[in-house]
Amino acid sequence: MSAHGPARKMIARRSDALRGEAHVPGDKSISHRALILGALSVGETVVTGLLEGQDVLDTAEAMRAFGAEVTRDGDGTWHVHGVGVGGFAEPEQVIDCGNSGTGVRLIMGAMATCPISATFTGDASLNKRPMARVTDPLALFGAQAVGRAGGRLPMTLVGAADPVPVRYTVPVPSAQVKSAVLLAGLNAPGQTVVIEREATRDHTERMLAGFGAEIVTEETGEGRVITLTGRPELRPQTIVVPRDPSSAAFPVCAALIVPGSDVLVPNIGLNPTRAGLFHTLQDMGADLAFENLREEGGEPVADLRARYSPDMKGIAVPPDRAASMIDEYPVLSVVAAFATGATEMRGVKELRVKESDRIAAMADGLRAAGVTVEDGPDWWIVHGRGADGVPGGATAATHLDHRIAMSFLVLGLASDAPMTVDDGGPIATSFPVFEPLMTALGAQIGPA
Ligand code: S3P
Repeated sequence: MSAHGPARKMIARRSDALRGEAHVPGDKSISHRALILGALSVGETVVTGLLEGQDVLDTAEAMRAFGAEVTRDGDGTWHVHGVGVGGFAEPEQVIDCGNSGTGVRLIMGAMATCPISATFTGDASLNKRPMARVTDPLALFGAQAVGRAGGRLPMTLVGAADPVPVRYTVPVPSAQVKSAVLLAGLNAPGQTVVIEREATRDHTERMLAGFGAEIVTEETGEGRVITLTGRPELRPQTIVVPRDPSSAAFPVCAALIVPGSDVLVPNIGLNPTRAGLFHTLQDMGADLAFENLREEGGEPVADLRARYSPDMKGIAVPPDRAASMIDEYPVLSVVAAFATGATEMRGVKELRVKESDRIAAMADGLRAAGVTVEDGPDWWIVHGRGADGVPGGATAATHLDHRIAMSFLVLGLASDAPMTVDDGGPIATSFPVFEPLMTALGAQIGPA
């Protein structure tokens, strides 16, 4: 869906202690992959805990357009009847991926080695984002892309009729690019090899193995070398989607900065390629505890408890941790504003090409809220105000970016004066129950 309707102004006010359990929705990355791999296997894949956010609903609709049957039971269980590797049908209409870079890039990969064409579009945010990072490697398989200047959507991809396998070193740390190449490699004969210098989220590799593909990851001097044997018969799976650590970040960070808070976030996926924020918060002195650590459906899971942490200190976030917390920098910068001393975030150029330029969006809103921020092409520093508190009292522009909207609403729960965001509508892409969930904990968040 390429537009979410009229802008929805929202406000967050200084709140009393947040308390209770926060049952955040299913993991967005895993939800997209469950639908796509379900569509590429023969038989019925059953998914519970799927994130029913707009990004994932758009991917479900796309899988239907490529010929899979995707249905939802009244109790929220999803069923995918797939068409098999190489079995995608040519869609009759344009595929609209809405706000989702993950959706469009993974789906492009999945269709790039099928003898069909498809045209992709998205909302104003997605149509600004770079697609050459996926169409360049997909061209090596034999696919051809024609889009707007700078490799932007709308774009038509003509799949390779006679694909060849590929060996590709991913030039930017991106799980979306890695995954697009792996999904394309599914329908290429022989072995497709993807090399990544920095480890990014590995849900695609884990899930491909779960569906029965032959996939091997080796840690070598040149990085992680992932070898996939093409043309497997994927076996349908039963998938229980863990809850999203990137969504958990919002109630967790809110609890750390609102005096007296004690919040439990159960069943959070803690895949090491996703857990960087929580280690960073602990390094800053946050009172975080991982309870009941276990493994579910091939992914590590725990219950996370966050308590108000008045003595957090700014740190230099290790750049080699960036990929494991790439979506969490906006809300980390909010916590950093309340900590004492500077928090330095370096090696984060990718933040400039997310749903918005996240360094610019956060720096602008934080400055308007009375926080000193320095920034450069691939770094930014937030000067924490510690005991002085954060003034707030500003309106932040969210630029169609769900995480910018939620970050500034979290800030408003602890700033002196309320924080407003110009449009909370995009929150529905990843965390449709954000407002009632936060309100149930005691947060004063609502329409402005
Ligand atoms: C994702 C990968 C990341 C992340 C995005 C989800 C995924 O993007 O920012 O929200 O599911 O593969 P990049 O691959 O562009 O880093």
